[in-house]
Amino acid sequence: MDHALYSKSNPYPSELLVNRLMTQGSDKETRHFELSLKDSGLEYLPGDSLGVLPVNCSKVVDDLLRTVGLAGDETVLVNEENLVLQDALMHRLACTVLSKIQIKKFNEIAESEKLAELLQISNKEALIEYMWGRELIDLFLEFPQSGMDAQTFIDLLRPMPPRLYSIASSLAAHADEVHLTVAVVRYDGHGRERKGVCSSYLAERVGERIPCYLHPNKNFKLPADPQTPIIMVGPGTGIAPFRAFLEERMATGASGKNWLFFGDRSQKTDYLYGNEWSDYQKAGVLSNLDLAWSRDQEDKVYVQHKMLEKKSELWRWIQEGAFFYVCGDASRMAKDVDHAIRRIASEEGSMTDDEASKWVKGLQKDRRYLKDVY
Ligand SMILES: Cc1cc2nc3c(=O)[nH]c(=O)nc-3n(C[C@H](O)[C@H](O)[C@H](O)COP(=O)(O)OP(=O)(O)OC[C@H]3O[C@@H](n4cnc5c(N)ncnc54)[C@H](O)[C@@H]3O)c2cc1C
Ligand SMILES: NC(=O)c1ccc[n+]([C@@H]2O[C@H](COP(=O)([O-])OP(=O)(O)OC[C@H]3O[C@@H](n4cnc5c(N)ncnc54)[C@H](OP(=O)(O)O)[C@@H]3O)[C@@H](O)[C@H]2O)c1
Repeated sequence: MDHALYSKSNPYPSELLVNRLMTQGSDKETRHFELSLKDSGLEYLPGDSLGVLPVNCSKVVDDLLRTVGLAGDETVLVNEENLVLQDALMHRLACTVLSKIQIKKFNEIAESEKLAELLQISNKEALIEYMWGRELIDLFLEFPQSGMDAQTFIDLLRPMPPRLYSIASSLAAHADEVHLTVAVVRYDGHGRERKGVCSSYLAERVGERIPCYLHPNKNFKLPADPQTPIIMVGPGTGIAPFRAFLEERMATGASGKNWLFFGDRSQKTDYLYGNEWSDYQKAGVLSNLDLAWSRDQEDKVYVQHKMLEKKSELWRWIQEGAFFYVCGDASRMAKDVDHAIRRIASEEGSMTDDEASKWVKGLQKDRRYLKDVY
C-alpha cells in the first residue's frame, strides 16, 4: 500500500473506534471521537487538524429530491463523470448550506424580484440574514421550479467541502489514533429541524469508515524548548488542541509549566475532559486551571474574565517567556480574549493603548501568541 497516496483528494478510510457524548444533560451536544490510523502511515503533530469528508444525510437528500421534483435515478454529469443523481447528492455535492453565487445562479432561472433585490451589493447584510438558517431546499420551497431537469439542478451545486477539526490527541499518548472534539450543529430554522452536515454525519456513526486526511498547521505548535511555559485559552471545542498539547508534554516529560483556561455553559454538563484535567493537576503537569461557566449564574462568566482576574500572574508568565495560545470561536471569543490580553499589557505593563497594541504585535511576530480559531 502506498501511504503517500492518502491526501485530501484520496482520503484514508479510517475506522471510527469511539463516538462518545460528553455533554450528558446539556442542551448542547459535544462529542469525543477516536479514529484509527492503523496501517495508514499517517502521522501528525499536536496543533494539526484532521480533514473529514462527510456523506450527506439520506433523508436530507430525499426531501430535497422530492421538493425539486426529481426521482434520483437520473444520470447526471459531475466533473466529466456520469453519476446517478442520488449518489452524486449523497457523496459528491454540497446540498444544504447556501452561498451567494448559488443564489445568483438559482435566480438566473427563478427570476424572483425578492432574490434579485437581496443580491444587490448594497443589500449584503440582508442577504446574510436571509441565508442564516436557510438551506438549498428552502429556495425550492419558496420559489418552486416545476420541471427543472436533473442536470440543470446539479449545475447549481458545488463540490462537497471537507470540514477541518483540531486534533485532540497526541500520537505519543495514543499510537495509531486521532481524537476529535466536535460540537454537533443542530438548530431549528424556518420550521424545519436542521443539522450540520459533517458534525451530524460523525455523531450518527458507529464503527464505520470515515474518509479523512491530515491538515498540518505549522503556525500552531508547542514551543521547541520543553521548558517554556504555555498558557492555553480554549473554551468549548477550543479545548481540542490543548488536550493534545498536554498529552504530548506529559508523554515527553516536558518540564515547562502549563496553564489552561477552559469555559463552557455549565460545570455539571459541559466540563469537557474534566477528569483528565484533574489527573494532570495531580501529576503536577497542569500547574494552573481556570474555569469559566457561562450559564451557572445570572451574569456571563467567560475565559477572558478569568484571565483578567489573574492578570498579574498571567503577565508574569508572559514576562518569563510563556507562549500564549487561543483556540475556538473566531467571531466573538478570540476577539474578546485579544482585547483582554491588550488590557492586561496596559494595566500590568503600564502601557498606553498604542504601546499595548505594539507589544501584542511583537508577541505575534515572535510567534509566542498563536491562534487556531474558526
Ligand atoms: C481549522 C479549523 C478547526 C476546527 N476545529 C473544530 C473542532 O475542533 N471542533 C468543532 O466542533 N469544530 C471545529 N471546526 C469547525 C468545523 O470545521 C465545522 O465548521 C463545524 O463542525 C460545522 O460543520 P457542519 O458540517 O456540521 O455544519 P454545516 O453543514 O457546515 O453547517 C453550518 C452552517 O449551518 C448554519 N447554522 C449553524 N448554526 C446555526 C444556527 N444556530 N442558526 C441558523 N443557522 C445555523 C450556518 O449557515 C452555518 O454556516 C474547525 C474549523 C476550522 C476551520
Ligand atoms: N445548535 C446548538 O445547539 C449549538 C450549540 C453549541 C455550539 N454550536 C455550534 O458549535 C460551534 C462551536 O461550539 P463550541 O463548543 O466551540 O463553543 P460555544 O458553544 O460557542 O461556546 C463555548 C463557551 O464560550 C462561551 N462564550 C460565548 N461567547 C463568548 C465570548 N465572546 N468570549 C468568551 N466566551 C464566550 C459560551 O457561553 P454562552 O454560550 O453561554 O454565551 C460557552 O460557555 C458554535 O460556534 C456553533 O456553531 C451549536
